[in-house]
Amino acid sequence: MKMHWVLLTLTVVAELLQVRGLDLVFPSVIRRESDCRLQGPDVEQIPTNISISTTYLEVKQTQVRVLPGGVLFRLERLQKVSILQNEMLEIIDAYAFSSLPRLSSLFVSENVALKKIGEFAFSDLPELTEISITKAKHLRHIERGAFRNIPKLRYLLISNTGLNLFPSLAQIHSSAAEFIFDFHDNSYITEVPPNAFRGLCSQTITEIRLSRNGIERVASDAFNGTRMRRLFLGGNERLSQFSADAFAGPSELVVLDISSTALRSVPGSILGSLRRIIARSTFGLKQFPLFTRLSDAELTYPSHCCTLQYMYHNRSTGHWLCADPKVEQSDPHFFRDHCVNLSSCSPAPDAFNPCEDIMTSGFLRALIWVISVLALLGNTAVLLVLLATRAKLTVPRFLMCHLAFADLCMGVYLVVIATVDMSTRGQYYNYAIDWQTGLGCRVAGFFTVFASELSVFTLTAITLERWHTITHALRLDRKLRLRHACFVMTAGWLFALFAALLPTLGVSSYGKVSICLPMDVDSLLFQIFVVSLLLLNVLAFFCVCACYLSIYLTIRNPSSAPAHADTRVAKRMALLIFTDFLCMAPISFFAISAALKWPFITVTQAKFLLVLFYPINSCCNPFLYAFCTRTFRRDFFLMAARFGVCTTRAQIYRTESSSCQQPAWTSPKSSHVMLYSLVNTLHSIDGKQDF
Ligand SMILES: *[C@@H]1O[C@H](CO)[C@@H](O)[C@H](O)[C@H]1NC(C)=O
Ligand SMILES: *[C@@H]1O[C@H](CO)[C@@H](O)[C@H](O)[C@H]1NC(C)=O
Ligand SMILES: *[C@@H]1O[C@H](CO)[C@@H](O)[C@H](O)[C@H]1NC(C)=O
Ligand SMILES: *[C@@H]1O[C@H](CO)[C@@H](O)[C@H](O)[C@H]1NC(C)=O
Repeated sequence: MKMHWVLLTLTVVAELLQVRGLDLVFPSVIRRESDCRLQGPDVEQIPTNISISTTYLEVKQTQVRVLPGGVLFRLERLQKVSILQNEMLEIIDAYAFSSLPRLSSLFVSENVALKKIGEFAFSDLPELTEISITKAKHLRHIERGAFRNIPKLRYLLISNTGLNLFPSLAQIHSSAAEFIFDFHDNSYITEVPPNAFRGLCSQTITEIRLSRNGIERVASDAFNGTRMRRLFLGGNERLSQFSADAFAGPSELVVLDISSTALRSVPGSILGSLRRIIARSTFGLKQFPLFTRLSDAELTYPSHCCTLQYMYHNRSTGHWLCADPKVEQSDPHFFRDHCVNLSSCSPAPDAFNPCEDIMTSGFLRALIWVISVLALLGNTAVLLVLLATRAKLTVPRFLMCHLAFADLCMGVYLVVIATVDMSTRGQYYNYAIDWQTGLGCRVAGFFTVFASELSVFTLTAITLERWHTITHALRLDRKLRLRHACFVMTAGWLFALFAALLPTLGVSSYGKVSICLPMDVDSLLFQIFVVSLLLLNVLAFFCVCACYLSIYLTIRNPSSAPAHADTRVAKRMALLIFTDFLCMAPISFFAISAALKWPFITVTQAKFLLVLFYPINSCCNPFLYAFCTRTFRRDFFLMAARFGVCTTRAQIYRTESSSCQQPAWTSPKSSHVMLYSLVNTLHSIDGKQDF
């Protein structure tokens, strides 16, 4: 009961006091009564008789057009003002919110028609800590000096406006600690001008958020006279110029966000102090800057984490002095070198982008040179001889030209990879992005896919041609002519070009791995592409095997060939099939498994396979299909004789071929000549016979 009486008395007293305007005595009790809410479509202007005791003024959903200057002068107790959702409000006039001694926060939001904020609109506000101006998409103009002399300002938010000039902040002269300037989603702002933040705050600014504006340039001296700890520039998609002189004086910047910008570099003057960088989807930042204290990085490319890891690798972290908290201040250089760890870096290097060179070991590095030089020299020689010879172009020679050309392309690819590997040795991660996203990798990838497909195709065509010649040896009407071969090889070229072009057109891609093979199987379409290429190669291999088997069975027939030639031919066929198999099988097996996402080996191990086995055919084909055949040697010496060398050897070949009357590459007529031709066709590897 007693309690009840006390409460009642208090209420009555409070009401009495309110009536007499003595609200100063018990402000908390009567706060509700000092709110002034101007709301609704009836309100067309700010009345002049608002109670002097008002502490909270809200102007919401009214038809007010202008917020005139000086209208609030009398309201000395005003602490908080909200101007919300006034769809007719166009102008906040000069001096609209000036000289209000107690005003601490000010919200201007969702006034869609707001166009202009006048001079000194927010000026001489000694207690103001917070200003928000948001969602005014027609606000084009804030007069210079609109913000003036706001010494306690701690938070200034300007977002979703139509401003096209950076507002002038030079006269704010705040001295608050922990200042946050939040300026985002103003899509017409294209530049952070020089001295943009000078005069904003005399303390170190905690955070400057400039995210998702239309900023394209950060002018030189933009941050002149500004100390800040965090700077957010993320989402300014057209931001490409960040002046190297944007900062003046020693940097205190600790966090920098440049995600989703078009920046290609970061000004060097801030790198020393940064602890954290956020640069997601910053695809232009390919050369990674050298930070010294960075401990936390969110990046775009995995290889940049390699750069960081290597940079920190040599540091003897965990020095006993690091435990002393004073070390950082007293000896920053020591601290920097010994006490900073890389605590997190993403995206982490993965199977496709390991922190390693293109060729992971000295053995591979030497091997790739040997193989590529062999492939280049061998195939160049074959091409020269085949093209220089004066004899009539036959179908086999025509096909050999294509094979040599395809294998030459493979040699070019290997040389390119070997050269890039040499020039980036020991620090490939610094060049990874440039190489893998650049034109070079695409060209190299094009060459290798084109070369391997054309090579496999031609090899199959050669085998089929042999099989056809031998099994239809006695039927002239079935003879293959050059125009058939032309037709087949045109198809082969088109197919190889198509297969090699697809990854450059976005089906899979060459840039996924350092060796520029189409290993990107991120989508079903990419998987289908890669797997079907590999399956075609496997199919071609089986086709070759079947042909040789059929040839073998044909010539083993005792009626057509004596037994001694039999084993020799069998051996040679075995050699051909074996090299083909060696080239095909491991690559196809592991590649198909990887493409189906059951990888048995890592990319690092795959490189061994690729250098050892993948180019075997390109390297061996000149020997298997050209140098070791009698016809080729004849052509070679005849050509050499034209330059005046080996004339006697050439003479031997000349008489031999005239006595034989039957160039070995053409179809034989009698069974005796047929055997002779067969043995030739199946490569007279046997050196004794000719040398
Ligand atoms: C202010 O004046 C208007 C008329 O101009 C009146 O309707 C309103 O009640 C007055 N408000 C106060 C708080 O005196
Ligand atoms: C940089 O700011 C200082 C004062 O903080 C001023 O004197 C100087 O002129 C400014 N530099 C430029 C290029 O505006
Ligand atoms: C790491 O130390 C080795 C020698 O100890 C030196 O050759 C190498 O350049 C250093 N690496 C870095 C990134 O400092
Ligand atoms: C750095 O990492 C090492 C171990 O990796 C740890 O012992 C040390 O305390 C870390 N230092 C700092 C400053 O985090």
